[in-house]
This record gives sequence, structure tokens and C-alpha cells, in this order.
Amino acid sequence: MLAIITGATKGIGRAIAIRLAKENIDIVAISSSKQNLRELQKVIQSTSKAICHIHQCDLTKPKARINLRKELSKYSEELTILVNNFGRYAVGSIEEITSSELLNNFDLNVRTAFEMSQIAAPIFKAKRAGYIFNILSVLAEKTRESAAAYTISKHAMNGLNKLLADELREFEVSVCGIYPGSVNTSSWDGLDIDRSKMIQPEDIAELIAQSLKLSKQLFLGRIDLNPLDKKI
Ligand SMILES: NC(=O)c1ccc[n+]([C@@H]2O[C@H](COP(=O)([O-])OP(=O)(O)OC[C@H]3O[C@@H](n4cnc5c(N)ncnc54)[C@H](OP(=O)(O)O)[C@@H]3O)[C@@H](O)[C@H]2O)c1
Repeated sequence: MLAIITGATKGIGRAIAIRLAKENIDIVAISSSKQNLRELQKVIQSTSKAICHIHQCDLTKPKARINLRKELSKYSEELTILVNNFGRYAVGSIEEITSSELLNNFDLNVRTAFEMSQIAAPIFKAKRAGYIFNILSVLAEKTRESAAAYTISKHAMNGLNKLLADELREFEVSVCGIYPGSVNTSSWDGLDIDRSKMIQPEDIAELIAQSLKLSKQLFLGRIDLNPLDKKI
């Protein structure tokens, strides 16, 4: 088995990469930093028997994404799992942000997932097997005035998630939307907030790892998770 994970060097993506590697699933890790990727590769090599392939790519750059697409074609045969994790929070209400800021965040949060799904979906359909995990957010369904672009882009990604789930289900491909509240990752760096009460990225990774062990005829469409403390 082999899993492609976008944004794999930190936070949720990193936890998923390390956890799936422990299940002997080879990892294709994507991030913008070669240094971070090499560090992740070392960790995976020292904690599991899985191979960690690394691909440095600035996912905000269309040309880099085209090159990445070519590079990823060599994994078609072993590819079993796609984790669309890459995404970025953005602050600002509708009145405060420009339309280019909206499109920029939309590009980051939806386009990569869309393009990666375009790569994986035909492969999974042909194999009649495979898993796509889309890391969404509670803001894929709720709204937050102070994060308009993020709310809009995660709602759009929710649409992508639902489309993929509907389309691929009859091909025995599982598409699961993950809807976390606040997760203890570097996204919160610099903010004065008790991160110990947040969801830990390892919890999301564990849920994904366990979901792969469920019966094949089961369709797990979504995972909702929130901190126990409602104020977080
Ligand atoms: N944290 C939360 O509270 C929370 C809650 C709900 C949903 N989410 C969602 O969960 C997902 C992951 O969030 P996170 O908090 O785990 O993020 P994070 O800790 O900030 O990690 C982001 C990842 O993306 C990579 N990255 C950043 N810019 C990149 C670029 N231009 N090209 C390629 N890779 C890039 C980073 O690696 P490099 O720096 O090595 O490039 C890193 O691996 C996102 O979709 C987010 O919306 C997060």
C-alpha cells in the first residue's frame, strides 16, 4: 500500500504520515521544504519499515503542480490512499478581504485537493479500490465571519468531497471527509491559547489508521471530531 499526503511535514499531515508508516504503508510526502521533508523521512525510517518518498513542491505554484503531477505518475500501481490535507487558515471578514485574497485562499484549499483527486480517482476506479481522506474543518459546514475566505473555500472543498464520495462509491472507493474543530498544530503558533485542550493531530491519524481496518463493505463517509471543552 502507498499513501500520498499533501502538507505532510507538520501538524495533521505529519501525524498521518508517521502513523500510516507504522502500518507498513509507504508514504509519498509532499511539502514546500526539502529540509522538513528530509527530517520526516528520517523519522519514518527510524520508526517503521515503510519507505518514505519525498517530493518538494510549492503547491501554490501552478508550474510546480504540473511537474509534481508528472513525478507522481510513477506511483500509480501501488497507490491506495490519497490524503488531501494541505490547506491554510486566513483571517478577515467579507468586508475586510479582497476578491484576490478570496481566490488565493480558494486556490490553496481547493485547487490542490481537486488536482490530486484528478490524479487518484481514475487509478482507484480502475482498481476498484482505494481511499481518499479529505481534511476539511468544522468551517466546511459552519461559518465564521472573521475567516470568510477560509469558510468559503472549506465549503467548496466539502462540495468536492461529496462529489467524489458519490462518484467513487460504486467503484468501491471510499471517500471520507474529516471535520475537525481546533487541532494542536503550528497553525496556532504565536496565539495565546491552551493548545493542550485541542484535538491532537495523532488522534486524527489514529482514526484514519483504524478506519483502514474496517470491513471493506462499510462506507465511512465522515468523521467529526471536536475538543471536549466547548470553549476551545
Ligand atoms: N489546525 C487546526 O486547528 C485545523 C482545524 C481544522 C482543519 N484544519 C485543516 O487541516 C489541514 C492541515 O492543517 P495543519 O494545522 O496541520 O497545518 P500546518 O501544521 O500548518 O501544516 C501545513 C503543512 O502544509 C505544508 N505547506 C505549507 N505551505 C506549503 C506550500 N506552499 N506547498 C506545499 N506544502 C506547504 C507545510 O509544510 P512545509 O512548511 O514543509 O512546506 C506543512 O506540512 C488544513 O487543511 C487545515 O485547514 C486544521
